Amino acid sequence: MSDFPPFIQDTRIIKWEAEENFNSLSTNPGYKVYARMPKIDLTIPVNRKNVFLKDVLLKRESHRDFSSKEFDFDEVSEILYSIREIPEVSKNFTRRTYPSAGALYPIEVYLISLNCDNLEKGVFHYSVRDHSLTKLLLEDVSSLVIDATNDEHIDRAACVLIFTIVYNRFYPKYGQRGIRYALIELGHLVQNINLTITGMKKGCYEIGGFIDTDINELLDIREESEGALLMMALGNI
Ligand SMILES: Cc1cc2nc3c(=O)[nH]c(=O)nc-3n(C[C@H](O)[C@H](O)[C@H](O)COP(=O)(O)O)c2cc1C
Repeated sequence: MSDFPPFIQDTRIIKWEAEENFNSLSTNPGYKVYARMPKIDLTIPVNRKNVFLKDVLLKRESHRDFSSKEFDFDEVSEILYSIREIPEVSKNFTRRTYPSAGALYPIEVYLISLNCDNLEKGVFHYSVRDHSLTKLLLEDVSSLVIDATNDEHIDRAACVLIFTIVYNRFYPKYGQRGIRYALIELGHLVQNINLTITGMKKGCYEIGGFIDTDINELLDIREESEGALLMMALGNI
């Protein structure tokens, strides 16, 4: 590792009122809050004209041979906007662009920036609440990610997304069965990104083959409470 400061991570999971009122579990999902880490606000996408869902569905496919062209900041913002929390549905109820069993939302999303304009290389956490990125580690981690996946295509990716599962979001309500629900939720979420990327005429593919401990260590997550499930490389084609 370089001279950059080590992770200073606040691992508190804020479960609103969950301890006081079991029923509220269904309406108050947990969030990861990195209270001491700097944030970057992402941009809100502008409407692209005439992108029809039926066309996007038929065009979706995995792309691995990326060009070396970078993503711009608005493009990164637009991709992440496809999985954000829908603002101000209600003070007591949150909703996202994908369904979640019991509205508990146990999937967290991290972004590895590799080749993005106006975004430093490094590891970020995506905050669905306010559509922002939290800086966790400002360092080029491409070789670590390539080693952990044994996948050279990542070398030309603009960014990599990592999806993790947070067990204590669902365990009190669903026990082991919650893992099934979380995996289904991940499928919904990842398809939002697949279709958004296709609509933007960019490429992505999913990566299920990686060394768990290396990726979890990179994210500074404790494996007993949170673990990486899936990665996705994204780039220009
Ligand atoms: C859960 C999951 C894990 C995957 N893991 C990898 C992977 O580790 N490496 C890879 O190159 N592609 C991976 N893929 C992509 C599949 O190979 C790809 O979706 C499949 O060949 C069908 O091709 P298409 O997506 O172009 O329709 C994965 C896909 C899924 C859904």
